[in-house]
Amino acid sequence: MNIFKVKTEIYYGEDSMDKLKDINNKNVMIVTDSFMEKSGVVDKIKDKLINCNIIVFSEILPDPDIEVISKGVEILIKSKAEIIIALGGGSPIDAAKAIREMTKNINKVENIKLFAIPTTSGTGSEATMFSVITDRKKGIKYPLVSEGLLPDVAILSPELVKSAPPSVTADTGMDVITHALEAYVSVNASDCSDALAEKALELAFEYLPISYKNGDNLKAREKMHNASCMAGIAFNSASLGLNHGIAHTLGGKFHIPHGRANAILLPTIIEYNSCFNDNNYMEHSDAAKKYFKIAKLLNLPSSNVRIGVKNLIHEIEKMRKMMNIPSSLKECGIDLNEVKLNMNEIAEKSLLDACTATNPKKPVKEDVIKIIGKIM
Ligand SMILES: [Fe+2]
Repeated sequence: MNIFKVKTEIYYGEDSMDKLKDINNKNVMIVTDSFMEKSGVVDKIKDKLINCNIIVFSEILPDPDIEVISKGVEILIKSKAEIIIALGGGSPIDAAKAIREMTKNINKVENIKLFAIPTTSGTGSEATMFSVITDRKKGIKYPLVSEGLLPDVAILSPELVKSAPPSVTADTGMDVITHALEAYVSVNASDCSDALAEKALELAFEYLPISYKNGDNLKAREKMHNASCMAGIAFNSASLGLNHGIAHTLGGKFHIPHGRANAILLPTIIEYNSCFNDNNYMEHSDAAKKYFKIAKLLNLPSSNVRIGVKNLIHEIEKMRKMMNIPSSLKECGIDLNEVKLNMNEIAEKSLLDACTATNPKKPVKEDVIKIIGKIM
């Protein structure tokens, strides 16, 4: 028996922040970062809330760690907040999810509502049951997976993404494309996740270049915000693949922005999953057939499967170049000797990453080493 669940209520468009006006006479905790507080976005949220006691916890840094989560739990318990508003990129939203979940477990309270307001179009965290928490002392990232982590409400306001600089727009946008493509070819893909992934890809390929070139274009920002959320719902159900498995490992080791690591890997991963060298000329893997479908959907020249996949790869490389995203680890400024020295460990960790389990082609260590060799 299969199930496709969407628990989060999604409000989108220019007036979507008005949903916050429904919150009145409540204790509210806003979980965010210091930039959001200084830039006045937190005040915009406060202005929408009616007669609420508001506490702002703005200490979230990229890759939230166990210490900040513990502090957030303490504040949440003291404030008796009934509503948490998570505001920011993936990190504040991931942190807020973990803070609520831990508080529920400690205090046995069930009715704390979580509103997620993303300010980048990338992680899709506003609609997923995942959160990644870091143990900095041990250098380990813990992926938390639980239905309880799903936000109750997501607010996709294009106005809030307008100020994202081009390089952030590029990296996070490539993360959206990677989420949708990995969910689409995942061994857990379904008709429902496919529909969302297809639409997310259609929107992202059209509107990411526009958002990058003209950040003030609200229509493009809105479409990318919607694409990010749809790709999030798709991978929340279908999961991801080897691209994310390796990106998590490289990101943790060399501190490459997550979307950028994905973008560097994506063409090589599509090639790997397509298995063109493993099969007879006319035999194609299921993944290759699905990439071909996407190439056709994007109106890329696709007279046969190989040509379609080749052009999809070419299109991604073209977009990456246009947005000044590095195409290799070397271009990222990574010390390649360091990569070579740690190759075994990187490959082993990538294989153990939870995302790798749903990759359409089962990788072995040598495959991962070859892939990393190609992107060096
Ligand atoms: Fe991602």
